This record gives sequence, C-alpha cells and structure tokens, in this order.
Amino acid sequence: MQEHAESAPSPPEDSLDLLQAAGAARVRAYAPYSRFFVGAAIRGESGAIYAAANVENAAYPVGTCAETGAIAAMIAGGDRRIVEILVCGAGPALVTPCGACRQRIREFASAGTPVHAAGPDGIKASFTLGELLPMAFGPENLEPGAP
Ligand code: THU
Repeated sequence: MQEHAESAPSPPEDSLDLLQAAGAARVRAYAPYSRFFVGAAIRGESGAIYAAANVENAAYPVGTCAETGAIAAMIAGGDRRIVEILVCGAGPALVTPCGACRQRIREFASAGTPVHAAGPDGIKASFTLGELLPMAFGPENLEPGAP
C-alpha cells in the first residue's frame, strides 16, 4: 500500500540539535561555483545525527547536495532509517531538498517523516516527506509480489 502524508511534523524546538549540526556543516561547504552553502542533518533511528555539506565540482553536474552527503554518512554510520531531516541554507527563499534528494530521502524515510527547511538562524518551515514528494515510488514497489 502506498503510504500517505500523515500527522504534522514534530515541533521545531525538538530539532535544534539538527539545526546546530547542519549549521556547522554548512559553513564548511565546498561551493566555490554557486557560493550557495548548504548543510543537512539527519536523525537516524539509533538517535545518532549525521551531517554534511554540499560539495561542488568544476565539472558542475558531478557536485553533490548536502542531503546526499548526510545520507551517505548515515549509511556508513550504520543507520538505515531517517527519523527526521533538516536542510539549512541562507537567503529569503525556503531551502527545501531538490527533487533528486527528495527521492534519495524517500529510500530511507516514510511519507510522514519530518523535513525541516531552515536558515542559519532557525527553522522556517516544516513539511512531511509526503507533502514534498507525493505518490512516491519507493522500495515497496520492488518488493516480491508487488503489483
Ligand atoms: N544544494 C544542496 O546541497 N541541497 C539542496 O537542497 C539544494 C541545493 C546545493 C547544490 C549546489 O551545490 C548548490 O546548492 C546550488 O544549487
């Protein structure tokens, strides 16, 4: 069965440790081309926090998003489920995960998983993954017996 977006995300005040971790990673971003520094932090099922920054490349498409790095750190750290994720970037516009990263997050999260969009000074908005990536394709589609 396809999961649907559920309850509202957890209150931002519970996620300040993620903000701190993402902010610390963000200032170390390697973004000489866009000069847009992004940090991401994931709370894994174990309770551990995994943070990363975007890493650009002179061959532009090879660069990676902060979320991609945080997911890689989570996997290397032994967690397999995203309980909550926060993305931190500067500027007036909300920084939410790009489309490709929404799909990457989907692999390890559920429709109800909170996704926070933050600036350096705090969380600006919170969504569920289901809101950001409705009707998503996911691992369940490939389970044996899937229609
Ligand atoms: N970027 C991220 O790291 N995460 C996002 O959610 C949006 C975009 C990065 C990619 C690139 O290095 C820079 O921001 C500008 O697009």
